[in-house]
Amino acid sequence: MRRWRRAYYDQFSAVYDRFVALHSSDRQGNLRAYLAEKTGVSSGQRALDICTGTGAVLKMLVDRTGPDGLAVGVDFSRGMLAVAKTKLASRKGAFLVQADAGHLPFKSNVFDAVTCAHAFYELKGDTQDACLKDVERVLKTSKPFLMMEHELPRHRLIRLLFYIRLLSMGAKRAFQILKKEKERLESHFESVRKLPTPSGNSKIWVGIVGRDGKRPDGATSSGGNN
Ligand SMILES: C[S@@+](CC[C@H](N)C(=O)[O-])C[C@H]1O[C@@H](n2cnc3c(N)ncnc32)[C@H](O)[C@@H]1O
Repeated sequence: MRRWRRAYYDQFSAVYDRFVALHSSDRQGNLRAYLAEKTGVSSGQRALDICTGTGAVLKMLVDRTGPDGLAVGVDFSRGMLAVAKTKLASRKGAFLVQADAGHLPFKSNVFDAVTCAHAFYELKGDTQDACLKDVERVLKTSKPFLMMEHELPRHRLIRLLFYIRLLSMGAKRAFQILKKEKERLESHFESVRKLPTPSGNSKIWVGIVGRDGKRPDGATSSGGNN
């Protein structure tokens, strides 16, 4: 199944940027720049963008972390990463890694911020939970995970299409997305808040990793993949 999804994104990568330019209100990349700004990362720090796609957010992150820092983009699609590579070819401090969002190949407590733009709900099944666990693990204490997602569309027809897309993920998953988004993040992060975006069409959830890796359930995040 994952192989087919990867193949789908590999094909999609050829037109993805044009598709965004046609259908998104973020034609100038302002939304993604806003997301990068809200990470609070600065020169010399380390940021991670999961499901980076063609690197639109990564480009904004490396502008902030600079040549002495590290901005890493992870995606499982070779096609998407190939497009991202062309955009970031000359950027010192930017790195692309092919990996699954549920198995981040990094040491624990190494990143100053993690972002995920318009991609989290495209992750399948338990990959979403595995991903949140891993994000929590790779983030340093008190540092943020920023997840940007679409708000419920205001236009009735588009809202209907949005609901259909959610239902295609299964009724349980759709209910979680619509009604339990905050609670879900709260089981991984010490504090969770929602930021509006300037367009109002998207929202950003910000989850902060607790002190000493402590999670709300009292457990501590442990070292993992590396
Ligand atoms: C809608 S695109 C979003 C791309 C980018 N974040 C942006 O803002 O334009 C979703 C991306 O998630 C990636 N993706 C989907 N499932 C994944 C997984 N399990 N592991 C890693 N990447 C995944 C796809 O390859 C694709 O590049």
